[in-house]
Amino acid sequence: MVTIIVLTAALFSAFTYGGATTLRLDSSLSGTWKVRNANGNIEVPAVVPGGIYTDLRAAGILERDIYYRFNDIAYRWVSMENWTYSTNFTVEEELIEKQELFLVFHGVDTVASVYLNDEHIGNTDNMFVRYSFPVKSVIKSGNNELEVRFESSITAAKERYQQQALHYPVPPTCVPDEYRGECHANHLRKMQASFSWDWGPAFPSAGLWKEVVLEAFDEAVIREVTTSATLSDNTWLLNVGIFLEAGEQVLKVYGKFEARLELDVDPVAKEAVLLPDEPGQFYTTLTLEIPKEKVELWWPNGFGSQKLYNLSVDVKDRNDTVIGQASLRIGFRTIELIEEPVELGNGLTFYIKVNNVPIFSKGSNWIPSHVLPEKSAEPDVIYDLLSSAKVAHMNMLRVWGGGLYESDLFYQLADEMGILIWQDFMFACSLYPTNNEFLQSVKKEVTQQVRRLHHHPSIIIWAGNNENEAALRDNWYGSGSNYSLYKSDYIKLYVDTIRPAVLAEDSTRPFIVSSPTNGIESEREGYIADNPYSSLYGDVHYYNYLADAWNPNNYPTTRFASEYGFQSFPSLNTLSKVSIPSDLSMQSQFIDHRQHHPGGNNELRIEILQNLQLQKYATPEEEFPTFIYFAQINQAMSIKTATEFYRRGRSLHTADGQGSTMGALYWQLNDIWQGASWASLEFGGKWKMLHYFARRFFAPALVSPSVTSAGDLEIHLISDYLEDKETLLTVSVYKWNSLTPINETSSTHTLNKASVTKVFSKNLLDHLNAAGCSEYAVKSCFLHFSLTTTSGDDISPDNFLFPGSLKELIDFEPANITITYVKHGTKANTFEIDITTDGVAVFVWLEINGIAGEFSDNGFLLVTPTRTIEFVAKEEVAREKLQQAITIISLADVY
Ligand SMILES: *[C@@H]1O[C@H](CO)[C@@H](O)[C@H](O)[C@H]1NC(C)=O
Ligand SMILES: *[C@@H]1O[C@H](CO)[C@@H](O)[C@H](O)[C@H]1NC(C)=O
Ligand SMILES: *[C@@H]1O[C@H](CO)[C@@H](O)[C@H](O)[C@H]1NC(C)=O
Ligand SMILES: *[C@@H]1O[C@H](CO)[C@@H](O)[C@H](O)[C@H]1NC(C)=O
Ligand SMILES: *[C@@H]1O[C@H](CO)[C@@H](O)[C@H](O)[C@H]1NC(C)=O
Ligand SMILES: *[C@@H]1O[C@H](CO)[C@@H](O)[C@H](O)[C@H]1NC(C)=O
Ligand SMILES: *[C@@H]1O[C@H](CO)[C@@H](O)[C@H](O)[C@H]1NC(C)=O
Repeated sequence: MVTIIVLTAALFSAFTYGGATTLRLDSSLSGTWKVRNANGNIEVPAVVPGGIYTDLRAAGILERDIYYRFNDIAYRWVSMENWTYSTNFTVEEELIEKQELFLVFHGVDTVASVYLNDEHIGNTDNMFVRYSFPVKSVIKSGNNELEVRFESSITAAKERYQQQALHYPVPPTCVPDEYRGECHANHLRKMQASFSWDWGPAFPSAGLWKEVVLEAFDEAVIREVTTSATLSDNTWLLNVGIFLEAGEQVLKVYGKFEARLELDVDPVAKEAVLLPDEPGQFYTTLTLEIPKEKVELWWPNGFGSQKLYNLSVDVKDRNDTVIGQASLRIGFRTIELIEEPVELGNGLTFYIKVNNVPIFSKGSNWIPSHVLPEKSAEPDVIYDLLSSAKVAHMNMLRVWGGGLYESDLFYQLADEMGILIWQDFMFACSLYPTNNEFLQSVKKEVTQQVRRLHHHPSIIIWAGNNENEAALRDNWYGSGSNYSLYKSDYIKLYVDTIRPAVLAEDSTRPFIVSSPTNGIESEREGYIADNPYSSLYGDVHYYNYLADAWNPNNYPTTRFASEYGFQSFPSLNTLSKVSIPSDLSMQSQFIDHRQHHPGGNNELRIEILQNLQLQKYATPEEEFPTFIYFAQINQAMSIKTATEFYRRGRSLHTADGQGSTMGALYWQLNDIWQGASWASLEFGGKWKMLHYFARRFFAPALVSPSVTSAGDLEIHLISDYLEDKETLLTVSVYKWNSLTPINETSSTHTLNKASVTKVFSKNLLDHLNAAGCSEYAVKSCFLHFSLTTTSGDDISPDNFLFPGSLKELIDFEPANITITYVKHGTKANTFEIDITTDGVAVFVWLEINGIAGEFSDNGFLLVTPTRTIEFVAKEEVAREKLQQAITIISLADVY
């Protein structure tokens, strides 16, 4: 079911070569590939596109899943070898007669020399670049032998580091020991996280991770088509850029160009003789004019629909032979990054406007879905992860700079789902070299990637790097002793190379140099702000594992929180897939191995103990399930607290200029393997408790209670809707020992559009006393909030507030919760699970061991005697099997 949708989507953006004859050298089509190591004692069949770990695993040289237990270490030898990929392919005489023959590598990971019929035809050293090698003089009719000789990326990175260090070293010299990783990733244009990260293993891969194509043609081939739609008065101007490639000796290309839009407007066409911009590179544009009223706008998730239109482009030669065609799905929307003075006090706003509507950006951060690049674009995995983001009301994901420029499919799905993409360039947590060769390679990378991604309406901002402004300012890597040297390198790379390369291709989107950054204030301060974490400018990354994360007063205000997070462990079920039973304890070597964040497991325990009591278990193995449950509760509660704080901050405007918060992207959406991390989705797609919480705390309308540092209970109504709504707010005070509230008050309020309204403020203890709570009010009572329309329809998820720490609760009676019935729902693979309880239950957690799917709610506070939860299974499953596999627990079960 899922796959069909994906396959359809995959067709939406397609290029064909028309007049060119192409031979795809994929192993599934034309060729048999082999891969061997340097001394030849290993030689196995290879798959292209693919990679060495996948090939060795398929051949049985690697005996188990690469993620099993300690295999990241056990299989590290693979990345120390130099591998050679080779194939033989047959070329017909007819191809040889064409004017041009190019061998095009769409993705090579990473440092390699390419040989055709034993002749060296080129080198590669940037996995984000497409390489086209002219091969007319080398290729022959009949059999041809192609070899791609890779050098271990570990040794290549080290050599480059040493070469550079002859002048001065470019740090960091290595990752922390806890990462169990490899050094000097910053010296290679390779997925930086493939050398390890604080949430992921090192698998420094090698291979041809994207297609290899032989192109034979006479005139030129179509390489990219870019589009940008800008609104001018009442007309959309759709600018279509067409990029052609020809042999370097070609001095002009004659072409007939036509663009048609699937809308009732005339196509545009022209004939032109193009001169090269650079040797072999030709460019032309067409502009379609479309009356505004004919266009249905593209909106982010939650603001309207995601209307996409087909655009097709044809290029023909003098004889009307089609030499290239492209079809793209495009959307019409305007986009701005607003940085202007705030009403009160100092600073500048920092927010996105789409179609003139200010958008509070809600979402998370995206990391590669697999450490092996060839496995990072599995259609069903990408579809599943992005769908999980969409149903949690996310409207933005930041594609983080230590991973990959994602697949075409990723961005097509983001277009279809209305998920705005904040796109980092792939530079993260490091200083980078700036020798001429490196900068030229980066320029090519940026140019190609911006052209490839240009037409996607979902992409709304380009960002130069992740955290490198802060790293320089705060001397993370010992660069402080020669600050001006490294600062000048920083400017060379991001300001003088990447920025102009981006702006030359795309004038329609904002470019920010770093994240976090103070935006134009950073630029005013010479690109390295005094305090890149200023609450008055730009975006902020915020991590604090020592403060009580359930207390909103412990978070600093910001204009835009682009990263904040807390760790947890994935479920036992997910961990069990790559471990043995004795690994499953906080004391095991395995769990230590999977925790890359220095001191992470201790921090996790300390965080948990701030708000929950962890009873003494006889053995660490017995404690482990509870520890996971508590870590997930802590993560969910902490990020709930932070996110609601940021959302309330939208209408905060202090006299000194703080507030006007317009973004909350928690770290991180997805996982790269099964281990401790900040993700809300486990490897494999299972929702952690946080993801269920996210679906509530990101809801378009939300009642959000909080207690100020002065002890006042405040209730805010948050709305992302674009119109006012009349609502009924019900505040109930419960004792922990009864399902009947001791006090319930209701009031009507206008839920003001696109803002946050404070509707209640009163001393919390006074309120509890008046409601009839005992002198132990804080510990014996809690508050429950519901917001409905005045006619009682749902408009906001319920919310709650625990006035005291959950470590000590008075009169807390463990509830008896039972699953009374599981029946088929109305839709395929859906089930309704009826739950009854005789008491209040908190963090009620359902799991269905071994059956993938999502619940309509989970980790919830149960204050009604019965509740029905829906479960949507990802595949067909018998009702009885599901009923048997289901478990339910709540906090009381482990207190
Ligand atoms: C748009 O293109 C897609 C993919 O090529 C095609 O399936 C669809 O029918 C087209 N839609 C229209 C309205 O032409
Ligand atoms: C791989 O190639 C590099 C560069 O030629 C060389 O220094 C290294 O010794 C080779 N490693 C192996 C295992 O063959
Ligand atoms: C290609 O052909 C050569 C010569 O026949 C042979 O030695 C080699 O093994 C072949 N390579 C592959 C990948 O089949
Ligand atoms: C175009 O047509 C002319 C005359 O028919 C022919 O000589 C020429 O080879 C053709 N060119 C191409 C590129 O097919
Ligand atoms: C900074 O680096 C430059 C270039 O290597 C060098 O000339 C200069 O002496 C260094 N300064 C310090 C303080 O190390
Ligand atoms: C409920 O609490 C409010 C204070 O919030 C108080 O004014 C009201 O009298 C209480 N109602 C009852 C029935 O106790
Ligand atoms: C749960 O059941 C036990 C045993 O029947 C009973 O003692 C306890 O009071 C029940 N809990 C609640 C909250 O009613």
